[in-house]
Amino acid sequence: MGIKYKIIQFNINEFGVNIDAVKKELSFESLGWDKNDIKLSQLRFLITKYINDKKTILQEAQCFLDGNLVPNSIQELISSLSIEDQRKFHAYKPFRKRGISRFMVEYVNKKWEVNHIILPELTEFSQHEDHPLDLRKLIRRFPPMDRTLSHSILLKILIKKCVEMLCECEPQVKLKKVEVTCHQISLLIDSSTLSACNSPEGLHQDGSNYIVSALVIDKYNIEGGTSELYCIEKKRIIKSHTLECGEGLFHIDKNSTIWHKVTPIKLKKTSLGIGYRNILGFDFNYIS
Ligand SMILES: [Fe+2]
Repeated sequence: MGIKYKIIQFNINEFGVNIDAVKKELSFESLGWDKNDIKLSQLRFLITKYINDKKTILQEAQCFLDGNLVPNSIQELISSLSIEDQRKFHAYKPFRKRGISRFMVEYVNKKWEVNHIILPELTEFSQHEDHPLDLRKLIRRFPPMDRTLSHSILLKILIKKCVEMLCECEPQVKLKKVEVTCHQISLLIDSSTLSACNSPEGLHQDGSNYIVSALVIDKYNIEGGTSELYCIEKKRIIKSHTLECGEGLFHIDKNSTIWHKVTPIKLKKTSLGIGYRNILGFDFNYIS
């Protein structure tokens, strides 16, 4: 573990946390599909097909994502697609399962205290856009992580250790209170899909002060999923690493020169039929 460009690659065993214990305590089994991804894939497809109508598509995109009814202008574009393209449009499937939880972390009596915040049935989540076609600015709705998981002692230890890393990177900020959002994501692939990607938007920032772009909890029968960090100022890749189970990447995000992405995953052995990459991601935002 060491700080360079305010980037820390860590292994949770450095925190005294055993990956097998985390796997046991944080089950990914009951996560639900992120259905936002189907409509986002469909919107991206429509934009590539009707680049001249991108303004209309983007204007109606939130309504399309929110409702059961397809806005008229988007319906017209769908109806004008060729039969083959209509088939492709309706064939998009969800490719990741997801849950979200949120914590307020406060420095009280010279110790960091991690308190869980109860979230509604569906939490609205959006990120800042990095370019005009970036659909992450749309409000997506995510279900909360399983209640027992969001109260996990090990999860709270991981959050506390990450906040300590944050203080190490930013000693001048004198942090007292940090909001932490935890994303539990399972990226899945089977023989019907060539590849699946956890950053379909490409190189991006998440819009938080600091993030753990990924802490890998488990992976099975996959290759790829390499985390890549770029320094925009230096116009070059500054880190490329395929995280193994227990490894994570913590780094500065908003208003920095560091941008990130992750390469798609593919099945290692097609004969095994399925593969997955289970991760936790964290957003850290200064409150005071
Ligand atoms: Fe990200």
